[in-house]
Amino acid sequence: MTRSIWKSTAEKTNFPTLKEYINTEIAIVGGGITGVTAAYLLAKSGRKVVLLEAGTISGGTTGDSTGNLYSMIDKRLHHIQSKWDKETASNVARSRGQAVDLVERLVNEHQIDCSFKRVPWYLFSETNEKDEVIEKEIDAAADYGLPIEELHELPLPVKVSKAIKVKGQAQFNPAAFVSGLAEKIDPANCRIFENSEVHHIEKEEELVLSTATGTVTAQKVILATHTPKGIYGLQTALYPYREYAIAAKLNSGDFPDGIYWDTEADFHTSLRTYSKGNDKYVLVLGGHHKVGQEDDYSRFFRKLEQNARKYFDVSEIEYEWSAQHYKPADGLPYIGESSDDNIYIATGFSTDGLTYGVLSAMILDDQFNGRENQWSDLYKASRFTPVKSAKNFIKENINVAKQYLKDLPGKAEADSFDEIAVGQGKVVVVDDEKWAVFKDETGQVHCQSAVCTHMDCIVDWNDAEKSWDCPCHGSRFQATGEVIEGPAFSPLDKRNLDKKE
Ligand code: FES
Repeated sequence: MTRSIWKSTAEKTNFPTLKEYINTEIAIVGGGITGVTAAYLLAKSGRKVVLLEAGTISGGTTGDSTGNLYSMIDKRLHHIQSKWDKETASNVARSRGQAVDLVERLVNEHQIDCSFKRVPWYLFSETNEKDEVIEKEIDAAADYGLPIEELHELPLPVKVSKAIKVKGQAQFNPAAFVSGLAEKIDPANCRIFENSEVHHIEKEEELVLSTATGTVTAQKVILATHTPKGIYGLQTALYPYREYAIAAKLNSGDFPDGIYWDTEADFHTSLRTYSKGNDKYVLVLGGHHKVGQEDDYSRFFRKLEQNARKYFDVSEIEYEWSAQHYKPADGLPYIGESSDDNIYIATGFSTDGLTYGVLSAMILDDQFNGRENQWSDLYKASRFTPVKSAKNFIKENINVAKQYLKDLPGKAEADSFDEIAVGQGKVVVVDDEKWAVFKDETGQVHCQSAVCTHMDCIVDWNDAEKSWDCPCHGSRFQATGEVIEGPAFSPLDKRNLDKKE
């Protein structure tokens, strides 16, 4: 089983399951960094809030992130500058900087034990072919007043041609921060429920949120679910990708804390350290592919391990995990009400989600309290940017269309259940219908329809995470069909075939 170092080391929360009817002002779906920070701020300003988390607090993408907080972005500020303009890129950096400052204030105010520290962020090239990227980022960062330095070597056993250093960025254990903050939310104004998955949201006079054992009605809803649940036109402008991470104990060859990004390698695109007791770990992150569109998912872990051992003296790989992110078509997240329906979203964070999650909470808190927020328009969810989105929009939606074409009746991955190895899944055609069939460790076969319950794409078996992943909009389901993440509300439809090896 994959498991992140953050989820494995953070204190667990213990909030109840929703088993009642509650009427409230604001319902928040999702207990990651966006949902919990929004709940904290809104409760503090006196709003009545209910937070519903499908699993456990910080048990989703927040707990699978890098734990890095920074003003820059993975697409590079100079790309935002060329796609939008200088002012937009500057505002992105400034707004993200304010979010990092808020995390620091909350950690200090509540003494949250999450290893928060200010560290530098580095971007480096290994050969002079990518020096231009560094030079452009140096120019962009200098324009926005970020505290930068140009370097030609780093305290890393990696070859460096050119690098930029930006001081004053930050790292923490994101799961420990979110769990710690959830415990500090004013209980008089906010009730939190775990293991309370929302199956349905109905738009009546108020919004009605249903779980298996309870109901919440609310005037407004925040979908802090990474990508909005249900069917939204916006999903044509959000593109789901996965990225991989490993953590291994350093035997020797320590290097200073920092966020190290490489411009060139497919793998080890990001490096950092984390200390647990007397042990220091190196975290190596990289690999990148569209959700549900790989043949061999485990190869990413193997490649990361190979790279870790090439550069560092490490013992065994103790943690390995992957995480999902959604790239926005025009390079900026969508935060706010996407249409006039009292449902607010915060999505399209790319791999910069921890900082954008906190920023979303700040923006939504201001909006709900009638306060002006200087970043609201920059990130507004209802924006339409056909020119800035065109290139990505066309490329990514052709990709989605191809996934539907692949789903036409055709060859299955296995002709019989006997071809499925223990612990693996395959798509099998049964009576002209595609089934997602998983064989568990006891040899028991679990059958469900392979048709994604969001918008009918055929799911793909992810051998690294033991999940069914949808290549169209990124819904993911457990091996036995339950929803893990993504826009789908409902599990894969069960199919009955009593077959045992
Ligand atoms: S996530 Fe949209 S069809 Fe599967």
